[in-house]
Amino acid sequence: MTRIHCIITGILSIAFSLSHAQELYTPAPKPQPRINGPLVYGCRPGHPFLYRIPCQGERPVSFTIKGLPSGLSLDPATGIISGNAPVQGEYEILIKAVNAKGKDQRKLKIISGDKLALTPPMGWNHWYAHYDRITDAMMREAADVMISSGMADAGYQYVNIDDCWANAPNNNDKLRVGPLRDEKGNMIPNHFFPDMHGLTDYIHSLGLKAGIYSSPGPYTCAGFTGSYNHEEQDAHQFTSWGFDFLKYDWCSYGAIPTEGKWDDKGVTSEGNKKLTLEDFQLPYQKMGAIIRSQDRDIVFNLCQYGMSEVWKWGGSVGGHSWRTGGDLGFELDRIFDIAIRNTQYRQYSKPGEWNDPDYIQIGWIGNAGKMGAPELTKMPASMQYAYMSLWCLIASPLVYSGDMSKLDKFTLNVLCNPEVIDVDQDPLGECGIVIEKQQNCFLMVKNLSDGSKAVGLFNRGKTPVEVTADWKDLKLSGKKLVRDLWHQNDLGKFNGQITATVPAEGVVMLKIIK
Ligand code: GLA
Repeated sequence: MTRIHCIITGILSIAFSLSHAQELYTPAPKPQPRINGPLVYGCRPGHPFLYRIPCQGERPVSFTIKGLPSGLSLDPATGIISGNAPVQGEYEILIKAVNAKGKDQRKLKIISGDKLALTPPMGWNHWYAHYDRITDAMMREAADVMISSGMADAGYQYVNIDDCWANAPNNNDKLRVGPLRDEKGNMIPNHFFPDMHGLTDYIHSLGLKAGIYSSPGPYTCAGFTGSYNHEEQDAHQFTSWGFDFLKYDWCSYGAIPTEGKWDDKGVTSEGNKKLTLEDFQLPYQKMGAIIRSQDRDIVFNLCQYGMSEVWKWGGSVGGHSWRTGGDLGFELDRIFDIAIRNTQYRQYSKPGEWNDPDYIQIGWIGNAGKMGAPELTKMPASMQYAYMSLWCLIASPLVYSGDMSKLDKFTLNVLCNPEVIDVDQDPLGECGIVIEKQQNCFLMVKNLSDGSKAVGLFNRGKTPVEVTADWKDLKLSGKKLVRDLWHQNDLGKFNGQITATVPAEGVVMLKIIK
């Protein structure tokens, strides 16, 4: 075994040192169909249902489904399933895809009940690319690119507007200034969002889902209209516009329970009253209950930066995910620490309830401090693979937040490896654990539903280093088949341990198969 181990380690070293530059880890998708996406999908009975089967491979692809419950129908050419969610129950369907080059099939369990987001939500959010420059046209473009780039074929689904879509009382961009609400009290979108329903219709026509953003405070973080005292009305409006996702961002809400001040010019200040747990929970409880009462499946994303240990109660107030910290755009040099910190909250990660360490910021992103125009990230290539691996191993929502109009081959290669994404989307919903190794190195180990383990070997140092995963640390024994998930190839059978050379500031991500 030692000799084999050395040979394999040698091969791995060569492979991984070659791959250190801007090399693409993920092999190009094959021409034949490969169905991706989660193995379980939650919906609520009677509500509108929309699911575009993620499937790689040359078009045209023709789809069929065995066991599709009544109320749902499939467009065989696009793979879009739509209709109304079936009566409460579990429905095992078998999806088949055929094209000129081959075929594939994959099971999906549709669980119609009271839970959504049974696997971490995947999609795109505009914030770190377009900040206060976002327009309806950019949202539509993002949806188009989600399809044309192949991101949707790998499982990305939500196209989410962040802040700055409404009017503000004050803003440098006068086209974003205007009345906050109409005479009936309905929120008014700004000049750049002339037709919210038209926008969600467009996103839905592609089989994708649409997300929106508000704050429980009088104003959002960028000073736009918030939902304070209009919660019910705004939730109804978001529903009637056709949104499927709400990010609810604390922002100016602090002024309310602290008995602070706010005016109609967008100025708010907090008072001195100390906040209690109930104060932190109240706005989310309130909106959570309203969202649940809508005749629409709306994923509820809490954004309050991890205050008051939100992971302990985010699920109980109706949240499907909650930010565990501040804005990651200010801390992109700390992705390893942040992922490790998130493993401390691992017991709160489960189907329908996810810790959210914030978006994937690679490719073209704008400087968070300056709300700058998108520029190509300076993050080392190897670290971008590590970033994606960490987010998958902690079962984070996978929400890309870079400029979709500038998506390049490398960025897509990081974002769209279905075997890596499968780790994130695993139905168990477990967050990995950390096993410290030698200086600068650690493993992150995640149990998967088929009894296998996903293991990330991470190196935070500036030079490549050999890292060993020992079976005893992983609670494994005997000979195991090991697969390299980024390169999508089997490395062979290993007994007792595996060693790989991990690139500087990078990862080797393995699946140790049951
Ligand atoms: C906060 C949130 C960010 C983003 C901005 C918008 O900072 O944490 O994710 O939504 O507000 O203003």
